Amino acid sequence: MSTLDQVNPALPANWYYDREHYSRELEAIWYRDWIGVGRVESLRHDGDYFVINVGTQSVVVTRLPDGTLNAFHNTCRHRGSRLCQDNQGRFRNGRIICRYHTWTYATDGTLVATPGRLETDDFDAANYSLYAVHVEIWRGFIFINLSESPALGLEEFLGDEADALRNWPLEDMCSVHQEKVTIACNWKVFWENYNECYHCPRVHPELCKVMPIYSKGVSSAADLPGWEPEFDGDVGRTTVGDGAKTWTMSGEISLPIIQGPTEEELTQGVVFSSFSASMYVVGHPDYVRSVRIMPTGPETVELTIDWLLPSSYEVVDKQILEPILELARLVIQQDGAVCELNQQGLRSKRHQSGVLMPQEFDLWHFQESVRSKLANTKAERS
Ligand code: FES
Ligand SMILES: [Fe+2]
Repeated sequence: MSTLDQVNPALPANWYYDREHYSRELEAIWYRDWIGVGRVESLRHDGDYFVINVGTQSVVVTRLPDGTLNAFHNTCRHRGSRLCQDNQGRFRNGRIICRYHTWTYATDGTLVATPGRLETDDFDAANYSLYAVHVEIWRGFIFINLSESPALGLEEFLGDEADALRNWPLEDMCSVHQEKVTIACNWKVFWENYNECYHCPRVHPELCKVMPIYSKGVSSAADLPGWEPEFDGDVGRTTVGDGAKTWTMSGEISLPIIQGPTEEELTQGVVFSSFSASMYVVGHPDYVRSVRIMPTGPETVELTIDWLLPSSYEVVDKQILEPILELARLVIQQDGAVCELNQQGLRSKRHQSGVLMPQEFDLWHFQESVRSKLANTKAERS
């Protein structure tokens, strides 16, 4: 991708706060695309489950006795009661029991008991399994898809972006620390901010010390006017600056180097894989960080940040994680603050839409994809 040669109109301002438009985006994007919802190591035992809320939909993901995963709507087939009230737990004896009239399901979703039901000839329990949700695993990351027939398989959906981290042993890594952050902005505001570094020099002075290219307001040297490749195959990769090795405040490595990434990738210090709209994953020489994005309303978004280390590491003292937590926490806090300011200003009666500068090309691609997904669903309806 490269810079744009003209300015472009941004999305209409009311797409960032209008409740009806928010519902349209849930339908066109969040209920159709694959969305990252967690890591397999959070479901270690048979019957372990977690609940994930996507827009108005509540989905349960659980582990079956054969180690595979199952996902279903958190809704009883009798009269629609919610099944799980806790965000996570374990189904005892592999049974899911509805509190209301005790209809009982196996973790694979089949209805196995309906205590107290008066018998009739026309009732067949086989017709009342839990409503299934597609669930797949990509290298330890769990994805669900709320569409009854997803347009793309998970691998196809993830595409080339999945390739960027091929040398990091993601499937053999574990989340060693998780933090959640709520930001009072539309989910698109967060993604748009992620997609440009125009704001970096002013908003992220500490990060710019580790990533000097960011202090020029771009994320790669290739985006600077007049940039020429220095050697064959030079694509102007995003790298840490001289003297820095990874994303910590000092730029120093504080944990063992991960086996897998090439010398070049290790020197780069940072590699991104972005899976819009629900997640991005960042590989560093000594750790991996994933950020999951979930809209919780038209003007709020919840981030779930996981720090991953190879599962062979034993983290005895969480203090050793501090260097890898510090910079990311600060950057998210800085981004959250400007995202909230952005959201607040969008409600001006005079502001119909913003305007994108040439270096905001990734952001423009993001907005184009939102536009086209909305247009596709509209065309399907009419
Ligand atoms: S609603 Fe679940 S058993 Fe009646
Ligand atoms: Fe930022």
